Amino acid sequence: MTIDSLEKLLIHEMKDLYSAESQIEEALPKMEEAASHDDLKAAFREHLEETKTHKQRLEQIFADLKYAPTGEKCEGCAGLIEEGEEIIEEIEKGEVRDAGLIGAAQRVEHYEMAGYGTVIAFARKLGHHTIADTLTLTLEEEGKTDRSLSRLAEKVINFQAMEVA
Ligand SMILES: [Fe+2]
Repeated sequence: MTIDSLEKLLIHEMKDLYSAESQIEEALPKMEEAASHDDLKAAFREHLEETKTHKQRLEQIFADLKYAPTGEKCEGCAGLIEEGEEIIEEIEKGEVRDAGLIGAAQRVEHYEMAGYGTVIAFARKLGHHTIADTLTLTLEEEGKTDRSLSRLAEKVINFQAMEVA
């Protein structure tokens, strides 16, 4: 697809997000498995359910616009997920790894938030207000996840990780 209009750029960016959500859907069960703290496990589990909804929202938008959601691989997200996998490989299970997993997950959230912010702006500019509203629901959920990960890190995990050494 030649990207020669804002509409096509919007499609391209949403395909990228669809790829990101699909990769995240695959990564979250591994992160849950790798985490120790029950609250962190629960946070990853909860975000997996949200991620499935985010994918479904994108599928609906693509269906309405008569495009396929597939065909793009989000390399940025692949790199961030790989960094999370490195944390799992390099740090043994416990609080320190949990702290690292939170950092990795928050990088992913911020990446997604940037991506959703962009497509919402494009959709609004193009007059696709219903689409923009739907994508805003997802953006808000990504933000909520990011904030709850911050709270988890500050209240529980970073504190415990300091006591390990
Ligand atoms: Fe998401």
